[in-house]
Amino acid sequence: MSSQRRILVTSALPYANGPIHIGHLVEYIQTDMWVRFQKMRGHECWYVCADDAHGTPIMLRAEQEGLTPEALIARVWESHRADFAGFNVGFDNYHSTHSPENKAISAMIYERLRDAGHTTVRSIRQAYDPVKQMFLPDRFIRGKCPRCATPDQYGDSCEHCGATYAPTDLIDAVSALSGVAPELRESEHVFFQLNHFEDMLRGWLERNDLQSGVVNKLQEWFEAGLQDWDISRDAPYFGFEIPGYPGKFFYVWLDAPIGYLASFRNLCDRLNLDFDAFVQPDSTAEMYHFIGKDIMYFHTLFWPAMLHGANLRLPTNVFVHGFLTVDGQKMSKSRGTFITARTYLDHLNPECLRYYFAAKLGPAIDDIDLNLEDFQARVNSDLVGKVVNIGSRCAAFVTRDFAGQLAAEDDEPALIERLKHSADDIAQSFEARDFSRAMREVMLLADLVNQYIDRRKPWVMAKDPAARNDLARVCGTGLRAFRLLMIYLKPVVPALVENAERFLRCGTLNWASLEAPFGGCEIDAFTPLMNRIEKAKVEAMVEASKNSTAPTTVAAPVTPAPAAAPSAESATPTISIDEFAKVDLRIARVVQALPVEGADKLVQLQLDVGELGQRTVFAGIKAAYSPEALTGRMVVMVANLAPRKMRFGLSEGMVLAASHADSGIFLLDADDGAQPGMRAK
Ligand code: MSP
Ligand code: ZN
Repeated sequence: MSSQRRILVTSALPYANGPIHIGHLVEYIQTDMWVRFQKMRGHECWYVCADDAHGTPIMLRAEQEGLTPEALIARVWESHRADFAGFNVGFDNYHSTHSPENKAISAMIYERLRDAGHTTVRSIRQAYDPVKQMFLPDRFIRGKCPRCATPDQYGDSCEHCGATYAPTDLIDAVSALSGVAPELRESEHVFFQLNHFEDMLRGWLERNDLQSGVVNKLQEWFEAGLQDWDISRDAPYFGFEIPGYPGKFFYVWLDAPIGYLASFRNLCDRLNLDFDAFVQPDSTAEMYHFIGKDIMYFHTLFWPAMLHGANLRLPTNVFVHGFLTVDGQKMSKSRGTFITARTYLDHLNPECLRYYFAAKLGPAIDDIDLNLEDFQARVNSDLVGKVVNIGSRCAAFVTRDFAGQLAAEDDEPALIERLKHSADDIAQSFEARDFSRAMREVMLLADLVNQYIDRRKPWVMAKDPAARNDLARVCGTGLRAFRLLMIYLKPVVPALVENAERFLRCGTLNWASLEAPFGGCEIDAFTPLMNRIEKAKVEAMVEASKNSTAPTTVAAPVTPAPAAAPSAESATPTISIDEFAKVDLRIARVVQALPVEGADKLVQLQLDVGELGQRTVFAGIKAAYSPEALTGRMVVMVANLAPRKMRFGLSEGMVLAASHADSGIFLLDADDGAQPGMRAK
C-alpha cells in the first residue's frame, strides 16, 4: 500500500435555517464514503464541516420566530448533527461559522488581502427598504417579470419564463419584507479584486486534476472576465463586523468557506494536531472540498484566490457533484418527494440510501435520480438478496451443526483468490469517487459467491453425515468470502458491516484485513443485518413528506448568486447542440383559450400537441391577446419543461413569444402546413 497520506476533507456547510434533506445527503454521504475509505486504507484523514450560520435569511428567520439568531442557529445545529448522525455521516468535527475560530481566521485572511492590495472600496446603489431600514438582497425584492409579466417574481430571475435580470428591471417592484417600493440608496462596499488572481487560477487549474466539467466552466468564466466581488454588507446583518470598518459586515460567502479552516482549527486545538502543517503554502497535506454544482463559482474562483492572496495553501481539488432528482423531477413538497433526513429516518434504514447513492454516483458532475421503485428493487436484490443472504445461508449451518466453530480450511480457494483479486480495482474506483463502478464490481463478486453456494448445495450436505467435513469447509469458504465483501462495502454501509464484524467476531475490518487469515474460530449466531424495503414504508414516507410542514427557507431561497460576478447562468454565452437538443420544441394547436380568474395577465391554453396529447399551459400573454383570438392558432411550445404548479392549476409547458419590457408580446407561430406534435428545431 502507498505511504501514509495526510488529508483534510470538507463538505459544503449547510445553511443554518432549514432541515437537512435527501438532496443534501447526496453530498454528505458521498464525502463520508470517501473519507471512510481513506481511513480504512490507513491514511490520516480528517473530515470537517459546520453550519453556515450567517446572512440575511437567517437573521430574518430568527426575527420571524421571535428568536435571537444565536438561539436559532443553536437549535438548527443540534438538529443537523442528529440528522447526520442518523445517516452515519462521521464528521471528525461539526462546527459553526459563528465561532471564535472563524472570526479570527476571517479577520486574518481579510487583513492579509487588504494589506496586499487585493481589496478596494467604492460606492454602489442598491435597493433599500425604507420601512425595514435595510438594504435588500435581490431575492427579497418581488415584482412583475420584465419579460413575461408574471407577477410576484424574485429580483434576480423569473420562475415562470426563466429570465434573469437586475432587480431594477422588475416592474412594480416591492420589498418582500414590508411590501413598499424599495428606494435606491448609495453605500460604500468592499470589493475583492478577483482578477488579480487570473494567472494563479489558470496555473492551479493546469497543475491539478480537476473534473472536466469544472475545467470547462472555469474557461468560460475566464473568457467572460473575472469581476470584482462585493464582500461587505451593511448593518443590520448577522455576521462578523469587518475589522476597521464599523457598521460593515463580511458577506456570508466570505466567511463561509473560511469556516472549513475554522472547524479544522477547532479540531486541531482539541486533539493537539498541527493546524499549520495543513494550511501553509508548502504543506504536503492534501485538501479536498466536496460541493454541489450550484456553488462552484465560490469554490473554484473566490476560495482559491482568497487562500492564495492570504498566503495559504490551495485546495488539492474541488470535487463537484450534480443535483438529486426524485422520480426524474425536482424534489417537490406537493408530490411528497421533498424528503427530509428526519422523515426518511422515521421510515427507512439509512444504509439503504447510502447504498443506493453509491450505486448511482460516478465521478462526473451529472445529476442523479432517486427512482423510488428502483431504490426498493435495487436495495432488496443487491444488499439483502445477494450480500446479506450469503452470511445468513452459511452462518446458520455453522451455528446449528458446528456449535459456531468456523472451519479454517477452504473448499474452493480459487473463489477467495478471485475476490481478493478485485481489491486494487475496487480501491481505485473508491479513490476516483467512482462509487457506482465499485458497487458493480462488488455485486459481481457477490454473484460469484452465490453461484458457488448454489453449486455446492450445503443444505443437501447438511442431510448427509458423510458430507460433514465438506459442509464445514463450504461454510468456511462462504463466510470468508462474505467477510471480504464486508471489507469492500464498509465505506458504504458502515453500520451493517459493524454488525457483521460483531457476529463474525473478526475485529474491526480495514483494507489490510483482506490479507489477514480468518477461520478456526468461533462465530456468533447470525442476526439479520438488513431487512427488505417494504413498498408500504416507502409510500408512508412519501405521504409523510406531503404533510410535512417543516419550513425549508425563510421568505426566499437562500442560495445567493455571486454578487457583482456573472452568475453561472448569465456567464454562459453559448450552449452546445446537445444542450439545445434537450429542449423539446413542438408545434401545438390552441384548442381552447380561457381567461384566468384572479390573474389578469394570464391565459389558460388547452393545446393539442399531436402525438404528445393535450396539454394545459398558463401563459402571461393576456396583455397582448384576448383569449377568443387565440383559439385555432398554431404556436410553438416547450413540451418537456417540468410541469409547474401555479395558483390556478398545473402548467405543463410554455409557449414561445417574443417580448420586451414595454414593446408588447408577440407569439411565435408556424407557417401553413405545420401539424400539431411536429418537432421544431
Ligand atoms: N451554505 C452554502 C454552502 C457554503 S460552503 C462554504 C450552501 N448551503 S446549502 O445548504 O444550500 O447546500 C449545501 C450543499 O448541499 C451544497 O453543496 C449543495 O450543492 C448541496 N445540495 C443542496 N441541495 C441539493 C440537491 N438537491 N442535490 C444535491 N446536492 C444538493 O450552499
Ligand atoms: Zn418571466
